[in-house]
Amino acid sequence: MNDMTPDQKERSANLKGLGCSRKRVEDARFTQGKGNYVDDIKLPNMLHGDFVRSPYAHARVVSVNKEAALALPGVVAVLTAEDLAPLGLHWMPTLAGDKQMVLADGKVLFQGQEVAFVVANDRYIAADAVELIEVEYEELPVLTNPFEALKSDVVLREDLAGQTEGAHGPRRHHNHIFTWEAGDEAATNQVLDNAEVVASESMYYHRTHPCPLETCGAVASMDAVNGKLTLYGTFQAPHAIRTVVSLISGIEEHNIRVVSPDIGGGFGNKVGAYSGYVCSVVASIVTGKPVKWVEDRMENLMTTAFARDYHMTGKISATRDGKITGLHCHVTADHGGFDACADPTKFPAGFMNICTGSYDIPVAYLAVDGVYTNKAPGGVSYRCSFRVTEAVYFIERMIEVLAIKLNMDAAELRRINFIRKDQFPYKAALGWEYDSGDYHTAWDKAMKAVDYDGLRAEQAQRVEDFKAGKTRKLMGIGLTHFTEIVGAGPVKNCDILGMGMFDSCEIRIHPTGSAIARLGTISQGQGHATTFAQILASEIGLSADSITIEEGDTDTAPYGLGTYGSRSTPVAGAAAAMVGRKIRAKAQMIAAYLLEVHDDDVEFDVDRFVVKGAPERFKTMKDIAFASYNQAIPGLEPGLEAVSYYDPPNMTYPFGAYVCVMDIDVDTGVPEIRRFYALDDCGTRINPMIIEGQIHGGLTEALAVALGQEIAYDDLGNCKTGSLMDFFLPTAWEVPNYETDHTVTPSPHHPIGAKGVGESPHVGGVPCFSNAVQDAFRAFGLTHTNMPHDHWRIWQTANDLGLHD
Ligand code: CDP
Repeated sequence: MNDMTPDQKERSANLKGLGCSRKRVEDARFTQGKGNYVDDIKLPNMLHGDFVRSPYAHARVVSVNKEAALALPGVVAVLTAEDLAPLGLHWMPTLAGDKQMVLADGKVLFQGQEVAFVVANDRYIAADAVELIEVEYEELPVLTNPFEALKSDVVLREDLAGQTEGAHGPRRHHNHIFTWEAGDEAATNQVLDNAEVVASESMYYHRTHPCPLETCGAVASMDAVNGKLTLYGTFQAPHAIRTVVSLISGIEEHNIRVVSPDIGGGFGNKVGAYSGYVCSVVASIVTGKPVKWVEDRMENLMTTAFARDYHMTGKISATRDGKITGLHCHVTADHGGFDACADPTKFPAGFMNICTGSYDIPVAYLAVDGVYTNKAPGGVSYRCSFRVTEAVYFIERMIEVLAIKLNMDAAELRRINFIRKDQFPYKAALGWEYDSGDYHTAWDKAMKAVDYDGLRAEQAQRVEDFKAGKTRKLMGIGLTHFTEIVGAGPVKNCDILGMGMFDSCEIRIHPTGSAIARLGTISQGQGHATTFAQILASEIGLSADSITIEEGDTDTAPYGLGTYGSRSTPVAGAAAAMVGRKIRAKAQMIAAYLLEVHDDDVEFDVDRFVVKGAPERFKTMKDIAFASYNQAIPGLEPGLEAVSYYDPPNMTYPFGAYVCVMDIDVDTGVPEIRRFYALDDCGTRINPMIIEGQIHGGLTEALAVALGQEIAYDDLGNCKTGSLMDFFLPTAWEVPNYETDHTVTPSPHHPIGAKGVGESPHVGGVPCFSNAVQDAFRAFGLTHTNMPHDHWRIWQTANDLGLHD
């Protein structure tokens, strides 16, 4: 007999739920030019805004003459700080508890700072009018080095002069923002003072920029008749933007609709609030017409939120046989002209206190000093969870430096110091409780996959050959074992501007058994519409293909804190699982009623409820959905809908083991990446294909940062890397073949055991590429050299080591 009824395995596969490499549903529109980005939004009678920006990094604004610009046909308005001041909108609050000028109020603090906002009938007229505005500046001394800023008499933030308390405690100098500490300083110093071996190093994690393909922009439309403001924008956190707009504009929050349409990459750059958003809103209120502002590439690179700029000094102590005993870290953090870092309120240096990494370090201390300079503000987590990239770079470099000091193999040094599987949940010396991990298994798998011993033997031979004049190429083996901390966060620890960092999912099941789910997050290319539907499919038993995912419209989506820091899966993904369980609980009651048995006598089976012990008696989720609308079920409301707000009990702690094998031509400084192996553990894997895509993208951005990408300034505060001619954005030409691998250590507290993954490859990739470069020179006496390792700097390193003699 031929039974065509799908078995449990087939029914499960039909759902395209957890673990399925489901094709991205977003890509049909993205690959056919049908995306709907901010710049695609065209409203009737829309005006266009453009900024006059300061050419100076530090100057007094003596006067602004708008006359010629206003006389240009097509120019509708020119706004300056004077115009915004009566509305109290010439300054705006930053996410870091500081405030920032919307338009220059008396002085400018960085090159490119917004001075005036021109509104015109079209974008070209606005640009022409910008050229006609005459601004008289009086130059002031420029401070681009945070160490000098802390010694200088020059007061950068005159608005804070005499203020000794900042948002994060005492300020000890007029250019000092905060000192943030974690751990036990006295105990750490005692261990370091009495240690058998101490290795020290100073390193600079250079300033760089997330540089998303789509720049930032907004379209504001004030409907004066209905009193309703609609704001479309490139927002990674639309609800937070709605709340901020309400607080600073006085418009009641229910009268504000914020929409993030398709977003072309964010990587942290689109978390904060920019002058362009505020000016578009004001201009729309003033003119009564919609106003669009979209920045160009140079504006994006030179003025919107940068990343990193951490000067880090470390000491690490160990026994002679390599057991780490203590870690000390000091950071001088250059925040630019305003403290506009995007971090949870209580963490002015983000999660830098994950800097003990994957290692069982009994005692540690961290202090971070934030400093004002004449550079653009920001300090965002460029594809990382709040400074975790800096933390992981720091510890992974310190491990290498310690290995050199101990004359030990760096892989072995890591192995003997890893937190053991049986130590989880593990309370780290700087406060975090790591939820789970199995570092030894991951590490051993990675070492075996790349034949680590074979690579070291080959490298030793290469050194011999180099010394014998048989080759001019050195070989570097970059190692990294990273631990991420993602999923901000427990509301008790993490908030942004006072709003707890929970997230949400709401679902409505339609009578025919399809559904729409809305979440408080917003995809910027990560594929949420694909993967959130997979979580729901497995929880509810309806095919992912029948579930529409919507994000980004605050009029319809439940309140959430947005997408950054790989928090979507750990927090909103958990909310999706929980909302699915609420649906299932009601569905169970409906099924029991329909099957005329007690609630406890039915059980969930992939896509249906079956009578226990009688699997031929069942109701599919489609049957149940229909019944919820067309049957009066005693004791139950009609319909099948639910909402869940999820406050995670802890962060999730993804980890990974990476190996990079690189050849370096010492005469040209050109590195050639021969191999890159990336093992990631993000707990339960929702969509392996999307995970692989995330790893490829994150590694490519890591390659960029490690090997050349930087935002650099000259002594006058001129940004030297303000266009893609100077700012390195890798193409397929530079990108090697990546080998991906995984282990699975589910998060014990996440409803489906998933951890975030989007940032892991960046966090682990940067030190891995950097370690490969530095390892190539280890045999010739190099301990540390700063990134970015562009060809010139690598050549210089070889030269400094006498390899060109
Ligand atoms: O917050 P963001 O979306 O940037 O990062 P994420 O939570 O790490 O998710 C990035 C993408 O990878 C999403 O489409 C996730 O659903 C997917 N992912 C997955 O398939 N399995 C995981 N364990 C984690 C993420």
